[in-house]
Amino acid sequence: MSVIRLSDEFLSEIRYRNRIEDVISSYVNLKRTGNTMKGLCPFHNEKTPSFTVYPENGSYYCFGCQNGGDVITFIRNAENLDYIEAVKYLADRSGMSMPESGYDDSAEKMRKTLLEINRETARFYHSCLIDPKIGKRGLDYFYQRQLTPTTIKKFGLGFAPDGFYNLVNHLKSLGYKENDMILANVAGRGKNGGAYDRFRGKVMFPIIDLRGNVVGFGGRKLPGDEGAKYINTSDTPVYKKTKNMYAMNLAKNSKSESIILCEGYMDVIALHQAGFTNAVAALGTAFTEDQATLISKYAKEVIITMDSDEAGQKASKRAIDIVNKTGLKIRVLQIEGGKDPDEYIKTYGAERFKLLLEGAKNDIEFNLFSAKAKYDTDTDAGRLQYLNDAVEILAGVNNEIAQNIYAGRLSDELSVDKQVLTNRIKALYKKRAGARQKEQLREMTSPTVRRDDINPEAVRHKRAAAAEEIIISILMLNPELCTTAFEQLSEEEFITSFNRRLYKALKTALSTSKAFDITMISSEFSPAEMGRIVLIQNKATVYKDSRRELNDCIAVLKEENNKLQKIDSSNMDNDEFAKAMQKIAKNKK
Ligand code: GTP
Ligand code: MN
Repeated sequence: MSVIRLSDEFLSEIRYRNRIEDVISSYVNLKRTGNTMKGLCPFHNEKTPSFTVYPENGSYYCFGCQNGGDVITFIRNAENLDYIEAVKYLADRSGMSMPESGYDDSAEKMRKTLLEINRETARFYHSCLIDPKIGKRGLDYFYQRQLTPTTIKKFGLGFAPDGFYNLVNHLKSLGYKENDMILANVAGRGKNGGAYDRFRGKVMFPIIDLRGNVVGFGGRKLPGDEGAKYINTSDTPVYKKTKNMYAMNLAKNSKSESIILCEGYMDVIALHQAGFTNAVAALGTAFTEDQATLISKYAKEVIITMDSDEAGQKASKRAIDIVNKTGLKIRVLQIEGGKDPDEYIKTYGAERFKLLLEGAKNDIEFNLFSAKAKYDTDTDAGRLQYLNDAVEILAGVNNEIAQNIYAGRLSDELSVDKQVLTNRIKALYKKRAGARQKEQLREMTSPTVRRDDINPEAVRHKRAAAAEEIIISILMLNPELCTTAFEQLSEEEFITSFNRRLYKALKTALSTSKAFDITMISSEFSPAEMGRIVLIQNKATVYKDSRRELNDCIAVLKEENNKLQKIDSSNMDNDEFAKAMQKIAKNKK
C-alpha cells in the first residue's frame, strides 16, 4: 500500500466532526439498543438488522456480511471511494480543508482522468452521431427505432465511426495518454503496444452513474454488420457492471414508488420516451443482488419485464429469487403480442402498456401461471401435475395468508377440496422449515474449517491466532498496558501474518499517541481487513482483569512459538538425516 500519512490531529478532527452514527444515519435507519445502534445493512440484503454501530469506539460491523471499520471505511464502502477520496469526502462534509501535502492521491487522480476520458468519449460519439457526414448510419438506425431527437440527446446516444484511431486521435489531441484510454477501456492495446478504438461502427449507449459520471459504454452493432450484438465496457477502476444499472441516474428521480426492470438498453429508452421514466436495465450481465439492493434504496416495488421468450422467462424467475431477498415487492409483467416492452409500445401504444403494468401479476401469481403453462390442464393428468407444482410453489411462500388465498383460488380453479390443499401445503412447508433449521444448526455447530480469506494462517494456527487477537484487542482498549506488552512481545513472535501486521500498526500508532482509535490505522488496511479489525477490537470488552488476560495470552503465544520451533528443528533433523542417507547410498555405489 502507498505511503499515506495524515497526521493524528487531522484524523481525530475528521473523526470528531463526522461522528460515525451521524454519518451512517443518512444511509441507514439506526435504532439505539444500549451502547450500540442497529439497522439494516446497506451492503447486503437482509430483513432483520445485523448491522451494528459502536459510537463509543467509532466503529461499525455487520454480523451478516462482515463489512466493518471506522467512519472512513464506511464511506469507502458506501460511496465506492479509495482511502484519500473518502477522507476528502468527510472533510468536505464537515467544512474542513485537506492538508496541503503529505498524502498520496494518485488513485484519485487516475480515476478522475478516466472519468474525464469517458465524458470526452461520450461527447465525441454524440457529435459523430449528429454529424450527417459521419453518423448518418447510426442516426438513421435510431430514427428507424422511432427514437426522437430529444430522447437521443437525453440519453447522450452516439455513434462510433469505422476505423481504428478516430477516438484515440481525438483524445490524444485533448492531451490524454494512450495508457489511460486503455485503462478506461474505450481503447484496446494493439500488437505494437499502441492504443486503438474499441468501438467501431457501433451505435453507442453511455452508462451514467448516480452522480452523473459517464462510467462506461454499451455499443450495439448495426443491422447487417458482423459480430456480437453488443460490446460493453469491461470493469475498470471507475466501473463495475454488477453494481450499476442502466438509466438509474434518471429513474431515481421519477416520482414512482416502483422500478421497471427491463432486459435491454433499447427497452429502457423506449419506456422513458413513452413516459415510463422509472425503467432501468442490468448492464449486459444477469441481474445481481447488489443491483437489487440499489433499487431498494429508491423504490418499494420492482416490476420485472423480461422478454416473453424462454430465456426471458428464466431470467424473470432468477430475478424474482434475487429481489425476494430484499423485501421489495415484486410484480412480473407478462407481455403477450410483443417480444419486449419496446415492441409492445410500438405496436399497441403507451396507454395499453400502462394497463398491462397495472395488471402485472405478483411473483406468486407469476410462478403459478408459468407452472400452469407447462401442462395441458384439460386432462386430469395435466391438472394433477399442475397441482403438484402449485403446492410446491405455495409451500415456498413465507406467508400464511398468501398461502391461504392462493389455495382458495386453486381449489376453485381445479375443483379440489381447499382443506386438502392447505393441509398439503402446510405439511410441506413444515418439512422444509425443519430442513432449513437443521441446516442452520449444522452451520453453527460444525467446526469452522472454513477458509479465512483475511488471515489464511489462522485456520492452521487456531490457538495462536486466538491469543494474538485477544492481545491486540486488549491493547486497543487499554493502551496503558502497551509498554509492558511491547517489551515482552515482539511482532516477530506473532505467528499469523495478518495479526502481525496489525500488531505492528498498533505499535506505530501508539508510539505517537496515548489513545488508540482505528481511524489511526485505517489507511493501511483494505475495507475487508477493517471489518476483521473491528471484530477483533470488540473482543476485549468482556474481560474483568485485562492485565491478567493479556499476560495469559502472551504466555500462550510464546508456548505456540516454542512448539513451532520444535517442529522446525525436527524438520531440520529430518533433512540432515535424509542428506546423510543419500551420502551413504552414493558411497555404496
Ligand atoms: P434490441 O434487440 O436492438 O432491441 O436491443 P436490446 O437492448 O433490447 O437487446 P436484447 O434484448 O437483445 O439484449 C438485452 C441486453 O443484453 C442488452 O441491452 C445488452 O445489455 C445485453 N446483450 C445483448 N447481446 C449481447 C452481446 O452480444 N454481448 C453482451 N456482452 N451483451 C449483450
Ligand atoms: Mn429489445
